[in-house]
Amino acid sequence: STKKLQVAIDGPASAGKSTVAKLIAKQFGYVYCDTGAMYRSITLKVIQEGIKLDDEPKIVSILDNTTIGFEPGQPQQLVFLDHQDVTNQIRSEQVTNSVSTVAALPGVRKNLVDQQRKIASHGGVIMDGRDIGTTVLPNANLKIFLVASVSERAERRFKDNAEKGIHTPLKELAAEIETRDYKDSHRKVSPLIKASDAIEINTTQMSIQDVVTEISKLMKNKLNNG
Ligand code: CDP
Ligand code: CDP
Repeated sequence: STKKLQVAIDGPASAGKSTVAKLIAKQFGYVYCDTGAMYRSITLKVIQEGIKLDDEPKIVSILDNTTIGFEPGQPQQLVFLDHQDVTNQIRSEQVTNSVSTVAALPGVRKNLVDQQRKIASHGGVIMDGRDIGTTVLPNANLKIFLVASVSERAERRFKDNAEKGIHTPLKELAAEIETRDYKDSHRKVSPLIKASDAIEINTTQMSIQDVVTEISKLMKNKLNNG
């Protein structure tokens, strides 16, 4: 069929959203939109320019002169901030521990949500984040809410870090994850919350391939049965 779905994948930090979203996008020939990378990019710029993380007027004023873009790349999609490749920089600990403060600012969210809706407007998109099913794409064809236990998510991040030569203790990673989840779930504007029509998948005991298979089944169902 020529029908192209909008798929929303939400959930807490390190639940596996971006890993499975990328694989599904590849399998279906869809665009993958990593909205977390957009919030991380703005946060990087705020840090680079020495702006306070909660200075909303100042941050909103630089948004008009900021461009965030995605380009295909191997092994991963590349992220560009003002035409500079920031793919690795936006994953730094400093950005990770600052992003939830910047992402809580209503003016920042409004700007990025508008951009995200444009990217999704033609369908054929897998978008992951925190508020995709509730706010960005409330009419998405399929909404997935991925969860996993804190200890499993800390271990996943621990392994990712080890590959990069970073050795933050497991306990610290678990605490960081809990702090970020708390901030993301308790902010006033579009907090992290499961949409009432989202399908929850607990990935604690699932492999990446298991999760991909489950979501692609749900997508094929939607494509065949509307
Ligand atoms: O990959 P990871 O779980 O570390 O996080 P991410 O998806 O890169 O998102 C980083 C941060 O951006 C989140 O902790 C949220 O504070 C914020 N975010 C958001 O507020 N709304 C979204 N749709 C996506 C991310
Ligand atoms: O995007 P999000 O923060 O939700 O998570 P991620 O960056 O996609 O996944 C964090 C790590 O968990 C990655 O290294 C994945 O390979 C791993 N993962 C896993 O081990 N088992 C799964 N079922 C899903 C992800």
